[in-house]
Amino acid sequence: QTLGIIGVPFGKGQSKQGVELAPDLLRENKLREVLQNGDERLVITDYGNLEYAVDERLLQQQRQHYHHIRNYAEFMACNRALIEQVQLMLQKNSQFLTIGGDHAIGFGSVAGHLQHTPNLSLVWVDAHADINLHTTSQSGNIHGMPVSFLLQQLRATWQHAALDEIAPNCLPKDQLVYIGLRDIDPYEAFILNKFGIRYYAMDSIDRVGVPKIIEMTLDALSPQNKIHVSFDIDALDSNVAPSTGTAVRGGLTLREGISIVEALRDTNRVQGMDLVEINPKLGSESDVRSTVESGLEILKSMFGYRRSGARHWSNLDT
Ligand code: ARG
Ligand code: MN
Ligand code: MN
Ligand code: MN
Repeated sequence: QTLGIIGVPFGKGQSKQGVELAPDLLRENKLREVLQNGDERLVITDYGNLEYAVDERLLQQQRQHYHHIRNYAEFMACNRALIEQVQLMLQKNSQFLTIGGDHAIGFGSVAGHLQHTPNLSLVWVDAHADINLHTTSQSGNIHGMPVSFLLQQLRATWQHAALDEIAPNCLPKDQLVYIGLRDIDPYEAFILNKFGIRYYAMDSIDRVGVPKIIEMTLDALSPQNKIHVSFDIDALDSNVAPSTGTAVRGGLTLREGISIVEALRDTNRVQGMDLVEINPKLGSESDVRSTVESGLEILKSMFGYRRSGARHWSNLDT
């Protein structure tokens, strides 16, 4: 098992300072050791933080077509670089992890994954649907739009973004499942319903519980596909993840978050993951500490640790 990690200190998908500090903060808080968890069969390569450059063509697209949303050119430049980086990581590793930054980078992370592995399913764990179009967004923040760049059925709305050049492979709407939603904009609700996109909002999690939600999720996705899990820390309740830009109360408990990640991981099909929207400049010192700790718990359940101790058992006979 080989894991590539890329930090993407991008915060221009929204307007609060601080999300760009998260990749290095997680590293300082022993990200590598936590994932390694004493198992030498996991080989981790950290590729550092992504760099990118804006060019005149993107600035022109921004001026001509996308000036009403914030930082389009930076967003595209960063994601274009991330699309390349993800493909490089998958050439050398069996799995990759993208650490944000805000959720605008979900576009490049999943799009890069799709270029390497066209038969991909996406599980988007979030309080928000992040499926706004440039014409529906009320905030103008691109972190509320990345899914619309990925879906086959929506990318035509980005007709001036040259998506067919930078990311020809896209995601069919039936290979997307949302978990944890509880703050959907009116136009987003319209889009979700119009396209029949599958989403399990907090009310359905309350009704049937996480195991049933996972069962329905896996039933809906093609069983031979690899899986990408894009995890927005604000999916968790703000009592365990307060330091985030758009916190919403009434979210997943840490245990529910861990259960979701463990169940997906047990399919052995998860090939890529994002962890985004941790903002160390928001809240008190103890808020930041608990948010970082929650993020690390989620990551360690995806890449190694088992609460049942199973992994240590299997270590003994090798
Ligand atoms: N729907 C709102 C918007 O479009 C909030 C999006 C929050 N997204 C996030 N990745 N935290 O601005
Ligand atoms: Mn490969
Ligand atoms: Mn999000
Ligand atoms: Mn969110």
